[in-house]
Amino acid sequence: MIRQRYKMFVNIGHSSPKVLLCRTISIATQTTKSSNEVTLFNQRYPIDEWTNISENIISKLGRNLHVAQYHPLSHIRKRIVNYFYAEFHNRNGNPVFSVYDNISPIVTVAQNFDSLLVPKTHPSRQKSDCYYINKDTMLRAHTTAHQTELISMGLNNFLVIGDVYRKDEIDSTHYPVFHQVDAVRLCTAEEVFQNVNNSDSLKLFEHRSLETNEKQACHTLESVKVMEHELKNTLINLAKSLFGPEIKYRWVEQYFPFTHPSWELEVYYNDKWLEILGCGIMRQEILEKSGASERIGWAFGLGLERLAMYLYDIPNIKLFWSTDTGFLNQFKVDDPNTAIKYKQVSIYPQCINDISFWLPEGTPYSSNDFYDLVREVGGDRVEQIILKDVFRHPETKKLSHCYTIVYRHMERTLSKREVSNIHEKVKKVAAEKLHVTIR
Ligand code: DAH
Repeated sequence: MIRQRYKMFVNIGHSSPKVLLCRTISIATQTTKSSNEVTLFNQRYPIDEWTNISENIISKLGRNLHVAQYHPLSHIRKRIVNYFYAEFHNRNGNPVFSVYDNISPIVTVAQNFDSLLVPKTHPSRQKSDCYYINKDTMLRAHTTAHQTELISMGLNNFLVIGDVYRKDEIDSTHYPVFHQVDAVRLCTAEEVFQNVNNSDSLKLFEHRSLETNEKQACHTLESVKVMEHELKNTLINLAKSLFGPEIKYRWVEQYFPFTHPSWELEVYYNDKWLEILGCGIMRQEILEKSGASERIGWAFGLGLERLAMYLYDIPNIKLFWSTDTGFLNQFKVDDPNTAIKYKQVSIYPQCINDISFWLPEGTPYSSNDFYDLVREVGGDRVEQIILKDVFRHPETKKLSHCYTIVYRHMERTLSKREVSNIHEKVKKVAAEKLHVTIR
Protein backbone atom coordinates (compact mmCIF):
# COMPACT_ATOMS: atom_id res chain seq x y z
CA MET A 1 0.00 0.00 0.00
CA ILE A 2 1.12 3.00 0.19
CA ARG A 3 0.78 4.62 3.35
CA GLN A 4 3.52 4.27 5.89
CA ARG A 5 5.72 6.39 7.87
CA TYR A 6 8.96 4.83 6.71
CA LYS A 7 8.91 2.79 3.65
CA MET A 8 9.41 -0.91 3.90
CA PHE A 9 8.60 -1.26 1.74
CA VAL A 10 9.42 2.32 1.50
CA ASN A 11 7.49 3.67 0.93
CA ILE A 12 4.17 2.83 -0.23
CA GLY A 13 1.90 1.84 1.72
CA HIS A 14 -14.41 -18.32 1.50
CA SER A 15 -16.00 -19.68 3.89
CA SER A 16 -15.75 -18.23 7.28
CA PRO A 17 -13.06 -20.06 9.18
CA LYS A 18 -13.02 -20.84 12.84
CA VAL A 19 -10.88 -18.38 14.64
CA LEU A 20 -10.57 -18.59 18.35
CA LEU A 21 -8.40 -17.60 21.20
CA CYS A 22 -7.60 -20.27 23.73
CA ARG A 23 -9.71 -20.02 26.89
CA THR A 24 -9.98 -16.71 28.54
CA ILE A 25 -6.57 -15.42 27.86
CA SER A 26 -5.50 -11.94 27.36
CA ILE A 27 -2.77 -12.80 24.93
CA ALA A 28 -0.65 -9.85 25.79
CA THR A 29 -0.24 -11.03 29.36
CA GLN A 30 -0.59 -14.78 29.20
CA THR A 31 0.59 -16.45 32.34
CA THR A 32 -1.08 -19.80 32.75
CA LYS A 33 -0.40 -23.03 30.91
CA SER A 34 -3.88 -23.13 29.50
CA SER A 35 -3.32 -19.87 27.77
CA ASN A 36 -0.13 -20.57 25.94
CA GLU A 37 -1.56 -21.01 22.51
CA VAL A 38 -3.91 -19.42 20.06
CA THR A 39 -6.10 -21.20 17.50
CA LEU A 40 -6.53 -19.52 14.14
CA PHE A 41 -8.24 -21.17 11.17
CA ASN A 42 -8.33 -24.42 13.18
CA GLN A 43 -4.58 -24.41 13.63
CA ARG A 44 -2.90 -24.04 16.99
CA TYR A 45 0.04 -21.69 17.40
CA PRO A 46 2.18 -21.36 20.53
CA ILE A 47 2.31 -17.83 21.83
CA ASP A 48 5.41 -16.14 23.20
CA GLU A 49 6.78 -12.74 24.09
CA TRP A 50 6.34 -11.64 20.46
CA THR A 51 2.61 -12.31 20.40
CA ASN A 52 0.73 -9.07 19.91
CA ILE A 53 -2.44 -9.93 18.00
CA SER A 54 -5.65 -8.78 19.61
CA GLU A 55 -9.20 -10.14 19.58
CA ASN A 56 -10.22 -7.24 17.41
CA ILE A 57 -7.65 -8.08 14.75
CA ILE A 58 -8.47 -11.78 14.98
CA SER A 59 -12.12 -10.94 14.35
CA LYS A 60 -11.13 -9.61 10.92
CA LEU A 61 -9.56 -12.90 9.79
CA GLY A 62 -11.73 -14.65 7.26
CA ARG A 63 -13.90 -11.64 6.45
CA ASN A 64 -12.30 -11.66 2.98
CA LEU A 65 -13.88 -8.39 1.87
CA HIS A 66 -11.90 -8.54 -1.38
CA VAL A 67 -14.01 -11.47 -2.56
CA ALA A 68 -17.31 -10.59 -0.87
CA GLN A 69 -20.08 -10.34 -3.46
CA TYR A 70 -20.85 -6.73 -4.47
CA HIS A 71 -18.32 -5.31 -2.02
CA PRO A 72 -16.57 -2.21 -3.42
CA LEU A 73 -13.15 -3.82 -2.83
CA SER A 74 -14.33 -6.85 -4.75
CA HIS A 75 -15.46 -4.69 -7.69
CA ILE A 76 -11.99 -3.14 -7.90
CA ARG A 77 -10.33 -6.56 -7.59
CA LYS A 78 -12.38 -7.76 -10.54
CA ARG A 79 -11.49 -4.71 -12.61
CA ILE A 80 -7.78 -5.26 -11.99
CA VAL A 81 -7.98 -8.99 -12.73
CA ASN A 82 -10.01 -8.35 -15.90
CA TYR A 83 -7.46 -5.81 -17.01
CA PHE A 84 -4.64 -8.36 -16.65
CA TYR A 85 -6.66 -11.05 -18.40
CA ALA A 86 -7.32 -8.72 -21.33
CA GLU A 87 -3.81 -7.32 -21.52
CA PHE A 88 -1.79 -10.53 -21.26
CA HIS A 89 -2.97 -13.62 -23.09
CA ASN A 90 -1.26 -16.42 -24.94
CA ARG A 91 -1.68 -17.62 -28.54
CA ASN A 92 -4.92 -19.38 -27.67
CA GLY A 93 -6.34 -16.30 -26.03
CA ASN A 94 -6.01 -17.75 -22.54
CA PRO A 95 -4.93 -15.48 -19.70
CA VAL A 96 -1.25 -15.61 -18.84
CA PHE A 97 -1.60 -14.41 -15.25
CA SER A 98 -2.94 -16.76 -12.61
CA VAL A 99 -4.79 -15.23 -9.70
CA TYR A 100 -4.49 -16.22 -6.03
CA ASP A 101 -7.07 -14.53 -3.85
CA ASN A 102 -7.53 -16.98 -1.01
CA ILE A 103 -4.08 -17.64 0.38
CA SER A 104 -4.13 -17.59 4.18
CA PRO A 105 -2.83 -14.32 5.66
CA ILE A 106 -0.89 -16.29 8.29
CA VAL A 107 2.72 -16.41 7.09
CA THR A 108 6.13 -17.03 8.53
CA VAL A 109 8.36 -14.13 9.41
CA ALA A 110 10.74 -15.60 6.83
CA GLN A 111 8.10 -15.32 4.09
CA ASN A 112 7.12 -11.78 5.00
CA PHE A 113 10.66 -10.43 5.41
CA ASP A 114 13.67 -12.71 4.88
CA SER A 115 12.56 -14.12 1.54
CA LEU A 116 12.29 -10.54 0.31
CA LEU A 117 15.71 -9.50 1.56
CA VAL A 118 14.32 -7.15 4.20
CA PRO A 119 17.26 -6.54 6.57
CA LYS A 120 17.00 -8.02 10.08
CA THR A 121 17.15 -4.54 11.56
CA HIS A 122 14.61 -2.97 9.23
CA PRO A 123 12.03 -0.90 11.17
CA SER A 124 9.12 -2.58 9.38
CA ARG A 125 9.87 -5.75 11.41
CA GLN A 126 9.25 -4.07 14.75
CA LYS A 127 6.60 -5.40 17.08
CA SER A 128 5.08 -1.96 17.02
CA ASP A 129 4.47 -2.27 13.29
CA CYS A 130 3.27 -5.84 12.70
CA TYR A 131 0.92 -8.38 14.17
CA TYR A 132 2.98 -11.31 15.41
CA ILE A 133 1.36 -14.61 16.36
CA ASN A 134 4.73 -15.59 17.79
CA LYS A 135 8.37 -14.92 16.97
CA ASP A 136 8.22 -17.02 13.79
CA THR A 137 4.66 -16.46 12.58
CA MET A 138 2.71 -13.34 11.77
CA LEU A 139 -0.20 -11.89 9.86
CA ARG A 140 1.25 -10.85 6.52
CA ALA A 141 2.10 -7.16 6.31
CA HIS A 142 1.96 -7.26 2.51
CA THR A 143 0.87 -9.69 -0.18
CA THR A 144 4.44 -9.59 -1.48
CA ALA A 145 5.07 -12.23 1.23
CA HIS A 146 3.95 -14.96 -1.21
CA GLN A 147 6.28 -14.08 -4.08
CA THR A 148 8.98 -16.64 -3.46
CA GLU A 149 6.70 -19.60 -2.70
CA LEU A 150 4.73 -19.04 -5.92
CA ILE A 151 7.87 -18.59 -8.02
CA SER A 152 9.30 -21.76 -6.44
CA MET A 153 6.17 -23.58 -7.57
CA GLY A 154 7.12 -22.68 -11.13
CA LEU A 155 4.78 -19.75 -11.73
CA ASN A 156 5.97 -16.93 -13.96
CA ASN A 157 2.98 -14.58 -14.05
CA PHE A 158 0.64 -14.18 -11.12
CA LEU A 159 -1.46 -11.85 -9.02
CA VAL A 160 -1.87 -12.29 -5.27
CA ILE A 161 -4.82 -10.52 -3.68
CA GLY A 162 -5.65 -10.52 -0.01
CA ASP A 163 -5.97 -8.91 3.39
CA VAL A 164 -2.84 -7.50 5.02
CA TYR A 165 -2.23 -6.39 8.60
CA ARG A 166 -0.17 -3.52 9.95
CA LYS A 167 -0.17 -1.79 13.28
CA ASP A 168 -0.94 1.80 12.68
CA GLU A 169 -2.88 4.68 14.01
CA ILE A 170 -6.49 4.59 12.91
CA ASP A 171 -7.76 7.60 11.04
CA SER A 172 -9.93 8.20 8.01
CA THR A 173 -7.41 6.62 5.63
CA HIS A 174 -5.59 4.16 7.91
CA TYR A 175 -6.91 0.97 9.37
CA PRO A 176 -4.86 -1.97 10.70
CA VAL A 177 -6.32 -4.33 8.10
CA PHE A 178 -6.46 -3.46 4.44
CA HIS A 179 -6.20 -5.24 1.09
CA GLN A 180 -3.48 -5.44 -1.49
CA VAL A 181 -2.82 -6.77 -4.96
CA ASP A 182 0.70 -7.89 -5.78
CA ALA A 183 1.85 -8.94 -9.23
CA VAL A 184 4.91 -10.72 -10.56
CA ARG A 185 5.97 -11.21 -14.18
CA LEU A 186 9.07 -13.23 -15.02
CA CYS A 187 10.48 -13.33 -18.57
CA THR A 188 13.16 -15.25 -20.42
CA ALA A 189 15.63 -13.49 -22.71
CA GLU A 190 13.59 -14.64 -25.69
CA GLU A 191 10.43 -13.05 -24.28
CA VAL A 192 12.16 -9.82 -23.28
CA PHE A 193 13.69 -9.24 -26.70
CA GLN A 194 10.97 -10.73 -28.87
CA ASN A 195 10.14 -7.40 -30.50
CA VAL A 196 13.72 -6.31 -31.03
CA ASN A 197 15.40 -6.79 -34.42
CA ASN A 198 18.72 -8.64 -34.48
CA SER A 199 18.29 -9.53 -30.83
CA ASP A 200 20.54 -12.60 -30.93
CA SER A 201 23.39 -10.83 -29.23
CA LEU A 202 21.18 -9.31 -26.53
CA LYS A 203 21.49 -10.87 -23.08
CA LEU A 204 19.67 -10.55 -19.76
CA PHE A 205 22.77 -10.83 -17.62
CA GLU A 206 26.30 -9.51 -17.49
CA HIS A 207 29.22 -10.09 -15.15
CA ARG A 208 31.73 -7.75 -13.63
CA SER A 209 29.35 -4.81 -13.75
CA LEU A 210 28.34 -2.57 -10.84
CA GLU A 211 24.97 -1.58 -9.46
CA THR A 212 23.86 1.87 -10.61
CA ASN A 213 20.68 3.90 -10.11
CA GLU A 214 19.40 2.36 -13.31
CA LYS A 215 20.07 -1.33 -12.75
CA GLN A 216 21.34 -4.16 -10.57
CA ALA A 217 24.91 -5.30 -11.16
CA CYS A 218 23.92 -8.61 -12.78
CA HIS A 219 21.43 -7.19 -15.32
CA THR A 220 22.21 -5.70 -18.72
CA LEU A 221 20.90 -2.19 -19.17
CA GLU A 222 18.93 -3.21 -22.26
CA SER A 223 17.04 -5.99 -20.47
CA VAL A 224 16.14 -3.66 -17.61
CA LYS A 225 14.97 -0.94 -19.97
CA VAL A 226 12.69 -3.30 -21.87
CA MET A 227 11.22 -4.66 -18.62
CA GLU A 228 10.86 -1.18 -17.16
CA HIS A 229 9.02 -0.09 -20.28
CA GLU A 230 6.56 -3.00 -20.11
CA LEU A 231 6.05 -2.54 -16.36
CA LYS A 232 5.36 1.18 -16.60
CA ASN A 233 3.12 0.80 -19.63
CA THR A 234 1.12 -1.93 -17.93
CA LEU A 235 0.62 0.18 -14.83
CA ILE A 236 -0.26 3.40 -16.60
CA ASN A 237 -2.83 1.59 -18.67
CA LEU A 238 -4.18 -0.04 -15.53
CA ALA A 239 -4.48 3.39 -13.90
CA LYS A 240 -6.22 4.72 -17.02
CA SER A 241 -8.62 1.80 -17.06
CA LEU A 242 -9.56 2.61 -13.46
CA PHE A 243 -9.44 6.41 -13.37
CA GLY A 244 -10.14 7.25 -17.01
CA PRO A 245 -7.94 7.85 -20.08
CA GLU A 246 -7.22 11.50 -19.27
CA ILE A 247 -5.37 11.00 -15.99
CA LYS A 248 -2.26 12.95 -15.16
CA TYR A 249 0.46 10.79 -13.64
CA ARG A 250 4.09 10.83 -12.59
CA TRP A 251 6.76 8.31 -11.62
CA VAL A 252 8.69 8.85 -8.41
CA GLU A 253 11.90 6.95 -7.68
CA GLN A 254 11.64 4.81 -4.63
CA TYR A 255 13.44 2.21 -2.54
CA PHE A 256 12.22 -1.29 -1.70
CA PRO A 257 14.50 -4.05 -0.39
CA PHE A 258 13.07 -6.48 -2.96
CA THR A 259 13.32 -4.45 -6.16
CA HIS A 260 15.89 -2.27 -7.91
CA PRO A 261 15.30 0.08 -9.53
CA SER A 262 11.96 0.88 -7.85
CA TRP A 263 9.26 3.48 -8.44
CA GLU A 264 5.96 4.70 -7.20
CA LEU A 265 3.18 5.76 -9.50
CA GLU A 266 1.24 8.85 -8.52
CA VAL A 267 -1.92 10.00 -10.25
CA TYR A 268 -3.50 13.43 -10.04
CA TYR A 269 -7.03 13.00 -8.86
CA ASN A 270 -9.44 15.43 -7.20
CA ASP A 271 -6.73 18.12 -7.09
CA LYS A 272 -4.08 16.05 -5.37
CA TRP A 273 -1.21 13.72 -6.21
CA LEU A 274 -2.17 10.27 -5.05
CA GLU A 275 0.40 7.54 -4.56
CA ILE A 276 -1.24 4.40 -5.88
CA LEU A 277 1.40 1.72 -6.12
CA GLY A 278 5.00 0.62 -5.67
CA CYS A 279 6.89 -1.40 -8.25
CA GLY A 280 10.27 -2.31 -9.65
CA ILE A 281 12.62 -4.78 -11.23
CA MET A 282 12.84 -7.75 -8.88
CA ARG A 283 16.08 -8.39 -7.04
CA GLN A 284 17.78 -11.21 -8.97
CA GLU A 285 18.75 -12.88 -5.69
CA ILE A 286 15.05 -13.57 -5.04
CA LEU A 287 14.65 -15.27 -8.41
CA GLU A 288 17.85 -17.27 -7.92
CA LYS A 289 16.72 -18.55 -4.53
CA SER A 290 13.34 -19.54 -6.00
CA GLY A 291 14.72 -21.50 -8.95
CA ALA A 292 14.10 -18.89 -11.67
CA SER A 293 17.65 -17.64 -12.17
CA GLU A 294 17.41 -17.67 -15.97
CA ARG A 295 14.64 -15.05 -15.94
CA ILE A 296 14.27 -11.37 -15.15
CA GLY A 297 11.18 -10.08 -13.37
CA TRP A 298 9.09 -7.07 -12.58
CA ALA A 299 6.65 -6.76 -9.68
CA PHE A 300 4.28 -4.27 -8.15
CA GLY A 301 1.97 -3.90 -5.16
CA LEU A 302 -1.05 -1.69 -4.68
CA GLY A 303 -3.65 -1.01 -2.00
CA LEU A 304 -7.29 -1.62 -2.90
CA GLU A 305 -8.84 0.66 -0.26
CA ARG A 306 -7.05 3.69 -1.54
CA LEU A 307 -8.28 3.11 -5.08
CA ALA A 308 -11.81 2.40 -3.90
CA MET A 309 -11.95 5.50 -1.68
CA TYR A 310 -11.06 7.70 -4.61
CA LEU A 311 -13.15 5.96 -7.23
CA TYR A 312 -16.30 5.79 -5.17
CA ASP A 313 -15.82 8.92 -3.00
CA ILE A 314 -15.78 6.83 0.17
CA PRO A 315 -14.70 9.24 2.90
CA ASN A 316 -13.58 6.81 5.61
CA ILE A 317 -11.68 3.53 5.39
CA LYS A 318 -13.76 2.07 8.24
CA LEU A 319 -16.79 2.03 5.99
CA PHE A 320 -15.39 -0.97 4.09
CA TRP A 321 -16.04 -3.04 7.22
CA SER A 322 -19.61 -1.86 7.53
CA THR A 323 -22.32 -4.48 7.49
CA ASP A 324 -24.90 -1.72 7.25
CA THR A 325 -27.10 -2.25 4.22
CA GLY A 326 -27.24 1.54 3.74
CA PHE A 327 -23.58 1.27 2.74
CA LEU A 328 -23.48 -2.15 1.08
CA ASN A 329 -26.57 -1.80 -1.09
CA GLN A 330 -25.06 1.19 -2.86
CA PHE A 331 -22.58 -1.21 -4.48
CA LYS A 332 -25.06 -3.92 -5.42
CA VAL A 333 -24.32 -3.98 -9.14
CA ASP A 334 -23.33 -6.93 -11.30
CA ASP A 335 -20.99 -4.99 -13.56
CA PRO A 336 -17.85 -3.99 -11.60
CA ASN A 337 -17.27 -1.14 -14.08
CA THR A 338 -20.44 0.65 -13.02
CA ALA A 339 -19.66 4.23 -11.97
CA ILE A 340 -20.83 4.70 -8.39
CA LYS A 341 -20.57 7.71 -6.12
CA TYR A 342 -21.13 6.86 -2.52
CA LYS A 343 -23.75 8.87 -0.65
CA GLN A 344 -23.22 9.29 3.06
CA VAL A 345 -25.52 7.21 5.22
CA SER A 346 -26.67 8.30 8.63
CA ILE A 347 -24.64 7.49 11.72
CA TYR A 348 -27.90 6.82 13.61
CA PRO A 349 -29.24 3.29 13.88
CA GLN A 350 -31.49 1.69 11.32
CA CYS A 351 -34.93 0.51 12.29
CA ILE A 352 -36.16 -2.32 10.11
CA ASN A 353 -39.80 -3.33 9.60
CA ASP A 354 -41.41 -5.73 7.16
CA ILE A 355 -44.76 -5.37 5.46
CA SER A 356 -46.62 -8.14 3.57
CA PHE A 357 -49.77 -7.81 1.53
CA TRP A 358 -51.88 -9.52 -1.11
CA LEU A 359 -51.80 -7.66 -4.39
CA PRO A 360 -55.13 -6.39 -5.71
CA GLU A 361 -56.93 -8.55 -8.23
CA GLY A 362 -58.28 -6.73 -11.22
CA THR A 363 -56.43 -3.46 -10.55
CA PRO A 364 -52.86 -3.08 -11.81
CA TYR A 365 -50.13 -2.99 -9.18
CA SER A 366 -46.48 -1.99 -9.49
CA SER A 367 -43.78 -2.04 -6.81
CA ASN A 368 -42.69 1.42 -7.91
CA ASP A 369 -46.07 2.83 -6.86
CA PHE A 370 -45.55 1.29 -3.45
CA TYR A 371 -42.03 2.78 -3.20
CA ASP A 372 -43.44 6.23 -4.01
CA LEU A 373 -46.14 5.82 -1.46
CA VAL A 374 -43.69 4.83 1.30
CA ARG A 375 -41.52 7.86 0.50
CA GLU A 376 -44.56 10.09 0.56
CA VAL A 377 -45.62 8.82 3.96
CA GLY A 378 -42.20 8.38 5.56
CA GLY A 379 -40.26 11.21 3.88
CA ASP A 380 -36.59 11.42 4.80
CA ARG A 381 -37.01 8.83 7.48
CA VAL A 382 -37.11 6.08 4.86
CA GLU A 383 -33.67 4.88 3.85
CA GLN A 384 -34.35 1.75 1.80
CA ILE A 385 -37.25 -0.34 0.58
CA ILE A 386 -36.41 -3.87 -0.54
CA LEU A 387 -38.73 -6.41 -2.15
CA LYS A 388 -37.90 -9.37 0.04
CA ASP A 389 -40.27 -12.09 -1.08
CA VAL A 390 -42.93 -12.86 -3.66
CA PHE A 391 -45.39 -15.64 -2.90
CA ARG A 392 -48.27 -17.14 -4.87
CA HIS A 393 -50.92 -18.94 -2.86
CA PRO A 394 -51.11 -22.50 -4.22
CA GLU A 395 -54.91 -22.64 -4.09
CA THR A 396 -56.26 -19.11 -4.42
CA LYS A 397 -53.44 -18.19 -6.85
CA LYS A 398 -53.30 -14.79 -5.17
CA LEU A 399 -49.93 -13.01 -5.24
CA SER A 400 -48.34 -11.60 -2.13
CA HIS A 401 -45.34 -9.26 -1.78
CA CYS A 402 -43.22 -8.80 1.30
CA TYR A 403 -41.08 -5.65 1.57
CA THR A 404 -38.48 -4.67 4.11
CA ILE A 405 -38.53 -0.98 4.92
CA VAL A 406 -35.41 0.43 6.54
CA TYR A 407 -36.16 3.61 8.51
CA ARG A 408 -33.37 5.94 9.54
CA HIS A 409 -32.92 9.66 10.07
CA MET A 410 -29.77 11.56 9.09
CA GLU A 411 -29.69 13.70 12.23
CA ARG A 412 -31.21 11.79 15.09
CA THR A 413 -32.18 8.40 16.41
CA LEU A 414 -35.76 7.52 15.53
CA SER A 415 -37.86 6.27 18.41
CA LYS A 416 -39.64 2.93 18.11
CA ARG A 417 -42.95 4.71 18.54
CA GLU A 418 -42.28 7.16 15.72
CA VAL A 419 -41.25 4.34 13.35
CA SER A 420 -44.22 2.19 14.22
CA ASN A 421 -46.55 5.16 13.61
CA ILE A 422 -45.10 5.66 10.14
CA HIS A 423 -45.20 1.97 9.43
CA GLU A 424 -48.85 1.70 10.43
CA LYS A 425 -49.63 4.70 8.28
CA VAL A 426 -47.85 3.07 5.31
CA LYS A 427 -50.10 0.02 5.75
CA LYS A 428 -53.22 2.13 5.94
CA VAL A 429 -52.41 4.30 2.92
CA ALA A 430 -51.26 1.32 0.85
CA ALA A 431 -54.56 -0.45 1.52
CA GLU A 432 -56.52 2.68 0.58
CA LYS A 433 -54.59 3.83 -2.44
CA LEU A 434 -53.13 0.66 -3.93
CA HIS A 435 -56.00 -1.62 -2.90
CA VAL A 436 -53.71 -4.18 -1.35
CA THR A 437 -54.80 -6.42 1.52
CA ILE A 438 -52.40 -6.31 4.44
CA ARG A 439 -51.57 -9.80 5.73
N1 DAH B 1 5.01 -4.57 -0.59
C1 DAH B 1 5.11 -3.14 -0.82
C2 DAH B 1 4.31 -2.42 0.29
O1 DAH B 1 3.42 -2.97 0.82
C3 DAH B 1 4.59 -2.76 -2.17
C4 DAH B 1 5.40 -3.32 -3.31
C5 DAH B 1 6.43 -2.58 -3.84
C6 DAH B 1 5.15 -4.58 -3.79
C7 DAH B 1 7.22 -3.07 -4.88
C8 DAH B 1 5.92 -5.11 -4.84
C9 DAH B 1 6.96 -4.33 -5.35
O2 DAH B 1 5.72 -6.34 -5.34
O3 DAH B 1 7.70 -4.85 -6.36
O4 DAH B 1 4.61 -1.31 0.61
